Amino acid sequence: MRQIWITGRGGPEKLEVREAPDPQPGAGEVRIRVRASGVNFADILARLGLYPDAPPLPAVVGYEVSGTVDAVGPQAREDWMGREAFALTRFGGYTDTVVVPEEQLFEKPAALSHEQCVALPVQYLTAWQLVVVMGALAPGEAVLVHNAGGGVGLAAIDIARHIGATIYGTASSGKHAFLKARGAHALIDYTREDWSAELARLAEGRGVELILDPLGGAHWKKSYAALRSTGRLGMFGASKATESSLPGLLRLLKFGLGIPRFGPLALMGRNRAVFGVNLGHMWQERGKLRAWMQRILEGVAAGWVRPHVDRGFAFDRAGDAHAWIEARRNIGKVVLVP
Ligand SMILES: NC(=O)c1ccc[n+]([C@@H]2O[C@H](COP(=O)([O-])OP(=O)(O)OC[C@H]3O[C@@H](n4cnc5c(N)ncnc54)[C@H](OP(=O)(O)O)[C@@H]3O)[C@@H](O)[C@H]2O)c1
Repeated sequence: MRQIWITGRGGPEKLEVREAPDPQPGAGEVRIRVRASGVNFADILARLGLYPDAPPLPAVVGYEVSGTVDAVGPQAREDWMGREAFALTRFGGYTDTVVVPEEQLFEKPAALSHEQCVALPVQYLTAWQLVVVMGALAPGEAVLVHNAGGGVGLAAIDIARHIGATIYGTASSGKHAFLKARGAHALIDYTREDWSAELARLAEGRGVELILDPLGGAHWKKSYAALRSTGRLGMFGASKATESSLPGLLRLLKFGLGIPRFGPLALMGRNRAVFGVNLGHMWQERGKLRAWMQRILEGVAAGWVRPHVDRGFAFDRAGDAHAWIEARRNIGKVVLVP
């Protein structure tokens, strides 16, 4: 098999294709010949040495694949053989062949390409947990989606639109027309104006009921301040940590010092809630993930879940895929194609 390795901490040039013997499925596992492998922002954080959950480098990262099952281990369902499927991988997804536990496998809907399927596991499950499970967004409420043009942002827009909420998003201006067409009601170019002032204008000073914030650090404080009474702040990323030019640990320290503290009395006094989401810490809850994916696949069948692929990169251009995301050029999913 061919795999993409992160050979050490550093820039996109640290990605390298290497060959290894094909893995064999064990009990309860299947093997997938991969047609598309998803890139996530966490993979970039891992390469930069800013992702505490990543395996020690050198490593093969990657959380999701889609392809065809070509071997089935003992105790796994034999009728998976030859079927097209997509899966969550606990790292190791940057590969053309992978073995996964059957419980992390889902049948590929005929309506979606393999590239579209790898937009579902991380980005749609994260958005589902944020918007539906913990954010409890209701019809008629307002939500602010930061990074609206990213994969999680687009998934959150699909879900919020289906619920019937008013959707505000922050994104650089080149993405606004696309996001409007996807269902966002108003967009704010956070690179040119203070998004909180513009949000206050849009929401007529009331604030919004749900804010999804993957920027982190001091940005969480600003988002918290923009909530309406009964508002919820969902925190799920640390994109801001990549902005500084300080070396790894100092960068994390600067980021950490900006993080607000939320006291119970202040939350009570203002009728607000804060919560965190980390899909990478949900492996012990595969039953929940499967139930959420079932709902997402129903959305695919009904047409309101619309995974959007930005572009695919061949394995030997994996470094370009990372650079593309770091330059914030993508709208939606970036995919590696063996
Ligand atoms: N906790 C979890 O379980 C979980 C799961 C998935 C993702 N995440 C996190 O959610 C965030 C978005 O993930 P994604 O997959 O949607 O990413 P993505 O598709 O790569 O989207 C990234 C986009 O975010 C915008 N952005 C704003 N500030 C940024 C910054 N400081 N650095 C880089 N990009 C910035 C850029 O768009 P503009 O042109 O608008 O600036 C960029 O194109 C990441 O922080 C990721 O780690 C967390």
